[in-house]
Amino acid sequence: VWLDGKVLAPDEARVAVTDHGLTVGDGVFETMKVVDGVPFAMSRHLARLRSSADRLGLAVPAEDDLRAGVRELLSAHGPGEVGRLRITVTGGDGPAGTERGTSGPTVLMVTGQLRAWAESAALTVVPWARNERSAVAGAKTTSYAENVVALARAKVVGADEALFLDTRGHLSECTGSNVFLVVGGRLVTPALSTGCLAGVTRGLVLEWSGADEVELPEAALDEATEVFLTSSTRDVQPVHAVDSRRYAAPGPVTARAAADFRTHLAADRDP
Ligand SMILES: Cc1ncc(COP(=O)(O)O)c(C=O)c1O
Repeated sequence: VWLDGKVLAPDEARVAVTDHGLTVGDGVFETMKVVDGVPFAMSRHLARLRSSADRLGLAVPAEDDLRAGVRELLSAHGPGEVGRLRITVTGGDGPAGTERGTSGPTVLMVTGQLRAWAESAALTVVPWARNERSAVAGAKTTSYAENVVALARAKVVGADEALFLDTRGHLSECTGSNVFLVVGGRLVTPALSTGCLAGVTRGLVLEWSGADEVELPEAALDEATEVFLTSSTRDVQPVHAVDSRRYAAPGPVTARAAADFRTHLAADRDP
């Protein structure tokens, strides 16, 4: 663990019980995949950390200091030991209540292993909305309770991920991933206007595949011939079912997107 400038063993790292991140979920974070000791797409993740923090009015250390912290933390591990690295910035120690204190942010980084994802995923559409008009829409905040509840619901019905619609009924995103569909032969993904996170993987797949960002009604799932998820730990994950709908997993467009992703990842660790 890297905590406010120091590398510590996990059981030595201590955050105040009154930290605003803990008490009210006042924080932002990034999770990066680490490939051969190098965080993938780190520049994009650091840029998004800053834009999420700006939305919350949180101060983030200078990018060079964060990069130095990442280097220090990774060099404390053996080769191949780290599969993922999370950076969290919270509102810091503060008084009880919603108002943020004045102590300055808590900044921490934690390493871990990558989990193995299934070859393909089943989704369920959950009855709760992604609020595209939220004060923090599109920011990667630590307030993930909605995602926790939705993912638990997915598990109860035998699915792997939960798919949210926005408040107007457009497809938005999942609890920890963005979604792509092939509709009428065209690769599309929900537009940011649906309140989804501007996923780093989503952005890369958009650039590399020429997919379009659109507002899609839920009925697009009935017309779709392929569906896949993207996230920093999954890359491209085919979807074989959304509730009772079934899809080829992977279909040809998904297989191409996954192969292109692997090729780019092998060629450039910071696209
Ligand atoms: C809600 C949500 N949407 C989308 C994503 C995918 O984003 P990225 O590709 O940057 O990992 C995540 C990642 O954890 C997420 O939590």
